[in-house]
Amino acid sequence: MTTSSAPGKVYLFGEHAVVYGEPAVPCAVGRRARVTVEERDDDRIRVEAEDLSLDGFTVTYGDDPDDADVNVPGDLVAAATGYVDGAVAQARDAADAPDAGFSVTIESDIPLGAGLGSSAAVAVAGIDAATRELGVELSATELADRAYRVEHEVQEGQASRADTFCSAMGGAVRVEGDDCKRLPDPPDLPFVVGYDGGAGNTGELVAGVRDLREQYEFAADTVASIGDLVREGERALRDDDVARIGELMDFNHGLLSALGVSARSLDAMVWGARGAGAMGAKLTGAGGGGCVVALDESDATLTALEYTTACETAFRAELDTEGVRRE
Ligand code: MEV
Repeated sequence: MTTSSAPGKVYLFGEHAVVYGEPAVPCAVGRRARVTVEERDDDRIRVEAEDLSLDGFTVTYGDDPDDADVNVPGDLVAAATGYVDGAVAQARDAADAPDAGFSVTIESDIPLGAGLGSSAAVAVAGIDAATRELGVELSATELADRAYRVEHEVQEGQASRADTFCSAMGGAVRVEGDDCKRLPDPPDLPFVVGYDGGAGNTGELVAGVRDLREQYEFAADTVASIGDLVREGERALRDDDVARIGELMDFNHGLLSALGVSARSLDAMVWGARGAGAMGAKLTGAGGGGCVVALDESDATLTALEYTTACETAFRAELDTEGVRRE
């Protein structure tokens, strides 16, 4: 039996635009998905998941997920098992073991589909645990690459390397197309996260931005403006200018709203944070529901979010410099 874990992330800047080759800066945070894998005697996959902000579920199937024996609605199962399936396929390929079967248990303190990179963390930790279980050890870079292929497939060809690279490597990272690197000395960033208890569908939100960008010039310009803003943000990061970083996060939220990926609950939390004096606040990840990230050293934003009706829970999140690891 092998267990690996990988961190979730918040986007300081650049989600969505990164899908079109603009740069983005996600930061790994200290909330992890843990995946335990045990090789089976047959070629089936059994998945058990708990703590995914959903009722726990169990699903067992062999080659055909349509024959699955499940205890919760299909779309929830599809969301989580899509990434597990992909991770298992990558592990079988990496270990040259096409018929390997696994019992997989996922425990996660990253809410599912909420913009904190739960699916990337599950894919990265899943590939690591399954390959180790088969006696193969992959580098963090190869895990990031294979997990990206999983996301790419599940998101129907529209994914960036940002979430998976960040989860595999940890720390603050910069991703532009295939060029991915860790940022050497990011300043202290006092992240506060507000979570509305909901989730967005990443595939649908990404497709919505794609359609808007094809239909309207303003949307293509907005994507390009997010790229400019990220480059400006990188300068602020190099200068340790946290106030400027906050200001740019505010602008980034506005541009994401223009692309139609915010939600009433996310806007309410963003304004709640700003009203409490946060240095900046924006949605994080695909949007549509889920989480916002704000910057505030004091507890004012945390308290304000806790009193915001749209917010189910709020917490501080520390930058996690460690990526995927064996537990
Ligand atoms: C989702 O966490 C981030 C997006 O930019 C999609 C992606 O980068 O694959 C919306």
